[in-house]
Amino acid sequence: MTQTHTYDVVIVGGGGAGLMAALYASRNAKTAVVSKLYPIRSHTGAAQGGIGAALGNLEEDHWEWHAYDTVKGSDYLGDQDAIEFMCEQAVEAVYDLEHYGLPFSRTPEGRIAQRPFGGHTNNETNKPVRRSCYAADRTGHMILQTLFQQCIKNETKFYNEFHVMDVIIQDGVTAGVVALELSTGELHIFRAKAVIFATGGHGRAWQITSNAYAYTGDGEAVVLRRGVPLEDMEFFQFHPTGILKLGILITEAVRGEGGILINGKGERFMERYAPNIKDLASRDVISRAVYLEIKDGNGINGKNYVHLDIRPEMVNKYAALDGRTRLDGSPYSITAEEIHAKIPDISDFCRTYLGVDPAKDPMPVQPTAHYAMGGIPTDKFGRVLTNSQGAILPGLYAAGETACVSVHGANRLGTNSLVDLIVFGKHAGLNAAEYAQGSDLQSLPDDVEGFTRQQIDTLRNGSGKEKAAQLGDEMRNVMSDNVGVFRTEEGLSTAVEKLKELRARYTDVRIRPSAPGFNMELLNTWELGNLLDLALVTAQSALVRKESRGAHAREDFPKRDDPNWMKHTLAWLEKDAVRLDYKPVTVTRFEPKERKY
Ligand code: FUM
Repeated sequence: MTQTHTYDVVIVGGGGAGLMAALYASRNAKTAVVSKLYPIRSHTGAAQGGIGAALGNLEEDHWEWHAYDTVKGSDYLGDQDAIEFMCEQAVEAVYDLEHYGLPFSRTPEGRIAQRPFGGHTNNETNKPVRRSCYAADRTGHMILQTLFQQCIKNETKFYNEFHVMDVIIQDGVTAGVVALELSTGELHIFRAKAVIFATGGHGRAWQITSNAYAYTGDGEAVVLRRGVPLEDMEFFQFHPTGILKLGILITEAVRGEGGILINGKGERFMERYAPNIKDLASRDVISRAVYLEIKDGNGINGKNYVHLDIRPEMVNKYAALDGRTRLDGSPYSITAEEIHAKIPDISDFCRTYLGVDPAKDPMPVQPTAHYAMGGIPTDKFGRVLTNSQGAILPGLYAAGETACVSVHGANRLGTNSLVDLIVFGKHAGLNAAEYAQGSDLQSLPDDVEGFTRQQIDTLRNGSGKEKAAQLGDEMRNVMSDNVGVFRTEEGLSTAVEKLKELRARYTDVRIRPSAPGFNMELLNTWELGNLLDLALVTAQSALVRKESRGAHAREDFPKRDDPNWMKHTLAWLEKDAVRLDYKPVTVTRFEPKERKY
């Protein structure tokens, strides 16, 4: 029996963006969060090293410097009006978090502590600047705890372990969502004047990934099926330091605190790739460098990894060579105790998964699929855009990794994911609530849950010739082999064909008969369908973009090509065909130039 609930604003996803949106929407509108996880288990908890904001607590900094670094990091594909908005708003948003009770690490004077992070610089000296505000290496986790507590205090209604499987659009206006309740298997209709998708990314399409199991791109796939395009999907970030084979993130804060990357010859190879800021270059630059070192046989023992080294003797040696100083001008150094205090979770991960103590041993690392720069196109108010002219779908919003505002362009800077979800989560919440106040509930279409039932029935009634686990393995392999750090025409064409084949075989999958409640096989198989759709859109968008920019590195087109390709991709999935269109990048004050780190 389908239940119906009615709200002004429904937020899909209980991570950082969803909770921030809920906090601000619920001030002025009857708000519910519908989340497939318990909110504090959301993937925001995996964000370790900090949130960038030009507080200038330790040294001179300006939000305009943060904006320039973000534009440069994006390889000039980020929309500069949105980037300026984000970097200016970041300062207030971090103080909002502080006032909500987030336990930031502190300077001796009691201010929010800040550390260097990749690509964040003093624009005058081009040296790394301390901009990342952090809570040890648990910043994302602390954001979740803080915002969840605030939402509880404000009596936000949560529907946890509800999987949203469809968005209801009636006469071109958003009318709500359809969700499956995990514990009962029953469908629920959430009527709403405004819906905000904050469902995170889709890194589970790759074999080695830092992403949680839940990161299956559900929000993107749901709106894609309803005719909304996805923007810039070819740009997917590989974080250079995932734990070998497992992909679990080792935060960039390790390098912010002085850690260095070393190859099998014992060389600090980033000196060759980014002579100015070396191990604190942007992630696309470092991931490519790691890949090339491995390809040239310079991995550790010739294998497919390098070392990340934060042992005090190494940090102190290279800090002296770099002339790195403390704020008082004395030489920079670190002790084993400081390492364990500043990166306690990383120390634990290393002991648990690698059997090494980072204060005593180097950490084996390799690039890991980490972050979707692309996603559901929005403006800076979180409103979803449906074509290259910027048409708005009334009542539909998106924020966080699932959205593409676009502030990250072709490559995101570390710490800017948390900035994005805090700033745009807040503004999506405020704007959705304002929209809801001035709108009526849209009527529901006949058979409102029909499309959801059809998706479920297809999985229950397939021929059973195919196994979801096998298709998932093949998808992850083809994405890792062909849509990774470096790409070629041949590899991308192979990926597109293979993904089409996998999508066809997916229609033959059949889940086993089971009681309706807690049917994880059903939901995991549905999630695989989402990943297959997004993987195809990603590979096709990448195949057509014949240039190298940010995280999209084409061996056959190694240069950035601004005259032809400084534009955003929009992709629609029409049965088996991906249709592409393009829209211009917004440039305000930073004319494109060659990136040098
Ligand atoms: O390296 C990190 O701590 C990751 C942060 C991020 O993705 O922004």
